[in-house]
Formats: sequence, structure tokens, C-alpha cells
Amino acid sequence: MSISLRQVEADEVNALFPLLLLAEHPMSALRWSLNKLSDTVYRVEDAGQLVGATTMRWSSEPCEIVELAVEEHRHRKGFGGQIIDNLRVEGRRRGKQRMVVGTGNSSIGNIVFYKSGGFRMDHVRRDHFWYHHKPEIENGILLRDIACLQL
Ligand SMILES: CC(C)(COP(=O)(O)OP(=O)(O)OC[C@H]1O[C@@H](n2cnc3c(N)ncnc32)[C@H](O)[C@@H]1OP(=O)(O)O)[C@@H](O)C(=O)NCCC(=O)NCCS
Repeated sequence: MSISLRQVEADEVNALFPLLLLAEHPMSALRWSLNKLSDTVYRVEDAGQLVGATTMRWSSEPCEIVELAVEEHRHRKGFGGQIIDNLRVEGRRRGKQRMVVGTGNSSIGNIVFYKSGGFRMDHVRRDHFWYHHKPEIENGILLRDIACLQL
């Protein structure tokens, strides 16, 4: 398995919405994020098949993984880890010293994922999810804050 990340143009982003919504929802929040936070959108393929998508803000230091998602039926097959590896290589190529990512305080699996990829806990953005209209419970925990991890 050897994945490829291809930067997509604006007119190709819609096709990645179902994937990106796994990482950021509702759609209004995803659109806001695409307009205001990320500057680069990647389509991730394995042997020509779409397997994931990720968005980055390279323009900041530290740079930031804004969204990252792998197709649900392909989880735990190493794709996410490979995407991180590719982003690290690209970050070094761009001269980036550090990379951050934020994930929900209740997304325990994501926290394990990023920590197993070498990220370390950095800080918490409290009440980040104020814009969610309905309470979201994951792993029995109310989603409220963003845990920010740094590589
Ligand atoms: C987070 C995500 C990108 C991980 O992708 P993935 O391809 O499943 O990750 P990998 O297979 O590379 O996992 C590498 C390691 O991370 C850890 N890990 C990944 N997902 C995990 C989970 N749900 N629970 C516990 N550990 C997990 C494991 O240690 C795993 O190694 P192992 O499978 O050999 O035990 C994927 O779960 C996803 O797309 N989630 C939905 C969108 C999302 O929430 N994105 C993150 C917010 S930006």
C-alpha cells in the first residue's frame, strides 16, 4: 500500500465533502473552515482509489492539519498514519518547524491516533464547539473543547 496525496482545485472539493464531513460538521462549519482556515485540500488515493482527504493550513507557523479523514470502511488499515507521514515530509519540504492538529475532547480514538503518530498534547481551546446546536456525546463524553496536539 502506497498512498498519494494530490492537491485539488476548488471545483474538485465538493467531491470530497462526504469524507471531510467525517472530520468537520455540520456542512456550515466545514464550508467556514474551507474558506477561513485551510489553504490546501488534498485528495488521497491508494492504487487510484479515493481513500481519504485532508486539508492543511501551510501559511501559518506552526502549520495545521485542519481536517483529516479516511473512508469509514478503511479505518485501522494504516491510511491515516501514512497521510500524516506524507504531510510531515511536505512540511519539512516547506521548511515548517511544527505541525498542530485539534481534535474533540471526546474523540478518544483520534487522540490515540495522533499520539501514536508522534503528536504531543499542547493546549485546549475551551468551548470551541459552541456552534453545535445539539449536544454531541462520544464515548460517553460531551463534546465541548478541542484538544490541540503538536508534532
Ligand atoms: C482519525 C482517522 C483519520 C484515523 O485514520 P486510520 O486510517 O483509521 O488510522 P491508522 O489505521 O493509520 O491508525 C494508526 C494507529 O492509530 C491508532 N488509532 C487509530 N484510530 C483509532 C481508534 N479509533 N481508537 C484507538 N486507536 C486508534 C491505533 O494505534 C492505530 O494503529 P493500529 O490500528 O495498528 O492499532 C480516522 O479514524 C477518521 O477518518 N476518522 C473520522 C474523521 C476524524 O475524526 N478525523 C480526525 C479529526 S481532524
